[in-house]
Amino acid sequence: MRGMSEFAHTLQTWHAAHGRHDLPWQNTRDPYRIWLSEIMLQQTQVDSVIPYYARFLERFPDLTSLADADINEVLGLWSGLGYYARARNLHKAARALVEQHGGRFPPSALEIATLPGIGRSTAAAIAAFAFDQRVAILDGNVKRVLCRIFGIEGFPGEKSVENRLWVLAESLLPETGIATYIQAQMDLGATLCTRGRPACERCPFAAGCVARRDGRIGELPAPRPRKAIPHRRLRVAVICSDGRILLEKRPPAGIWGGLLSLPEISDEGIDARAWLGCRFGLTATSVTLLPALRHVFTHFSLDLLPVRLDAAGAGGQLHDPALVWLAADQLEGAALPTPIRRILENLAAAHTGLQLELPE
Ligand code: ADE
Repeated sequence: MRGMSEFAHTLQTWHAAHGRHDLPWQNTRDPYRIWLSEIMLQQTQVDSVIPYYARFLERFPDLTSLADADINEVLGLWSGLGYYARARNLHKAARALVEQHGGRFPPSALEIATLPGIGRSTAAAIAAFAFDQRVAILDGNVKRVLCRIFGIEGFPGEKSVENRLWVLAESLLPETGIATYIQAQMDLGATLCTRGRPACERCPFAAGCVARRDGRIGELPAPRPRKAIPHRRLRVAVICSDGRILLEKRPPAGIWGGLLSLPEISDEGIDARAWLGCRFGLTATSVTLLPALRHVFTHFSLDLLPVRLDAAGAGGQLHDPALVWLAADQLEGAALPTPIRRILENLAAAHTGLQLELPE
């Protein structure tokens, strides 16, 4: 894309020949009708909106009739469209307009955006269509179009990316013909530059589109990032005595349910030697920190922090039936979670004096 006005010019030329010109909310300057259409179209396809739009306007032809209505009747006319907060906000905004603005829409996007349920982009669309105000919109369609043509990286729902898109959208505005330009942006996104299988061969921007040039139509705009998974830390004890290791059967629910694992030192701060005495009545002859090991689950990652505690002469009966002393040759067949098995393998590999023979 060379000059910025080239963008608007190309879009307007395309729209004159290929845009939508006879949707029920076009060819009106009535902000009430435009507002209603923009709200209904927020999460809903044009085809689904059309009959609802007609019924709604038949019953509530203007702002005053809507402000006077019972909310239940408004909701009734919305029934089936979904996202009912839209209808409640519509009703609230109608009352606010009647009570605080003399029953008229203020003619600026900034003021319109103070009404319930009207964000910056919707306010701009109303102000552009009804009052010819020269303001940018940035709905889902426009975000997708701009990200692809200009190769904007990052998830457009993220604040910093969205701010860049607003600046870009404002820099592209034509000097005149704002209403047609805004409608053209919506139409390009809704009819050609669609999310799946865009019709690039018919797009007036195909030659200069960064996403198309780089073969990244499927990657731009970037999808919502997967939520960062939480990290957990777990101190575990490798208690060794007479060539055997103490293992504990985990409760049936939760991670590693029913498997044998290393006993957990649940208090992060407690001294391991003291813990061994408290929990098992054993005395450690040596305490060795072993290398930490990270294991990634679907919903969190776990840093296992093992500590080796040698306890001479232990290895006898412990009263808790969940506890079991296993000799090295019993570990292979034991139901151990992979990261726990890995800790024990590392222990054996380190020739720490314990006679462990674990499978590869
Ligand atoms: N989606 C949001 N606003 C629209 C409009 N004015 N025409 C078509 N689709 C739309």
